[in-house]
Amino acid sequence: MAVFTPAAPVVASPGLAPEKAPPLAEVANLTVAFPSPDSRMSAVVREVGFSLAPHESLALVGESGSGKTQTALAMLGLTRPPGRVMAGSVRIGGQEIVGASESTLRRIRGSQAAMIFQSPRTALNPLKTVGDHLSRVYRRHSGLDKRRAQEQALAMLERVGMTAPERVLRAYPHQLSGGMAQRVMIGMMLACNPCLLIADEPTTGLDVTIQSQIFALIRDIQAETGLALILITHDLGVVAENCDRIAVMQRGRLVELAPTAALFAQARHPYTLRLLASILRPDQPPQPIDLDTPVVDEVPIENAGHAWRAISVDAWKALDATRPEMIEVAPGHFVLCHPEPPVEAQP
Ligand SMILES: Nc1ncnc2c1ncn2[C@@H]1O[C@H](COP(=O)(O)OP(=O)(O)OP(=O)(O)O)[C@@H](O)[C@H]1O
Ligand SMILES: [Mg+2]
Repeated sequence: MAVFTPAAPVVASPGLAPEKAPPLAEVANLTVAFPSPDSRMSAVVREVGFSLAPHESLALVGESGSGKTQTALAMLGLTRPPGRVMAGSVRIGGQEIVGASESTLRRIRGSQAAMIFQSPRTALNPLKTVGDHLSRVYRRHSGLDKRRAQEQALAMLERVGMTAPERVLRAYPHQLSGGMAQRVMIGMMLACNPCLLIADEPTTGLDVTIQSQIFALIRDIQAETGLALILITHDLGVVAENCDRIAVMQRGRLVELAPTAALFAQARHPYTLRLLASILRPDQPPQPIDLDTPVVDEVPIENAGHAWRAISVDAWKALDATRPEMIEVAPGHFVLCHPEPPVEAQP
């Protein structure tokens, strides 16, 4: 775990070209830390920046522990003590999240942004029916009376593709399959009509058919409402099918951000190259994934007449003196790079 240093430079928000729609979500220089055993604050998310427009789907990928969930939680003001947002800014619909009051955060989470998790059942109250859950959202957010809220709850279950909505309305969470529970969560999220959905491994553990149904549902909602999606997943196949751009995280840092096709075709950061090399190929027997074996340590990058290097964390540790920056190597394609050391400093 990297030790947090307070002298963090502002990192730009790599994102859309200025002529496109104004961003819906903007993250800049976001740094989240937890106390380490020696009680110093250690950063688990470091200077992360990106932006997102309506309709867009951004995948957040990276090995376990790279900071994906902590980035998402911080975006919704859900970082739990002893964790703390140490620096940076998150704006959703123009509203600053970092440092906002609990009531502002609740309002934003109720109306603008929502998050769904891998285990939807644990987010549902086991003593309440699906109908209770959904009607409560309608009563709270739309001020509907009990009867209207129940009608809307039923309509929502139909909308998320439940085959026997009346029966599901009366069901308790333990009576739902994983796919049904995730649809209920998506229904509850939709009832708030948010503009941003953060889905943290929403289909892990579900079978492939249910998984594609859930993503088809999310895509339909995006087309209909302009919902923007941040999808956290380990499944690069799902990313290839469902996301416009990919952000790759390694040990708390965003190391590469690019349109999906560009990242698969021309990944530039050594860590992304390793990640892609570790994907199981259908024509090969399963290989153990060893992310500690570097495929490559450094990639030279020429940009605006300056020499930079994209460097793996191991190589970068030996190069403490330089501050990395996100460099745009092609339109919309950003890579975390260090400036080339001056000639006399090179071995
Ligand atoms: N409560 C906590 N106390 C201390 N460290 C924490 C705490 N919660 C998370 N971390 C650390 O934060 C880092 C990032 O965790 P995070 O959950 O964001 O990873 P992730 O990329 O979502 O991983 P995964 O793919 O396994 O879900 C990890 O190193 C983790 O150990
Ligand atoms: Mg996670």
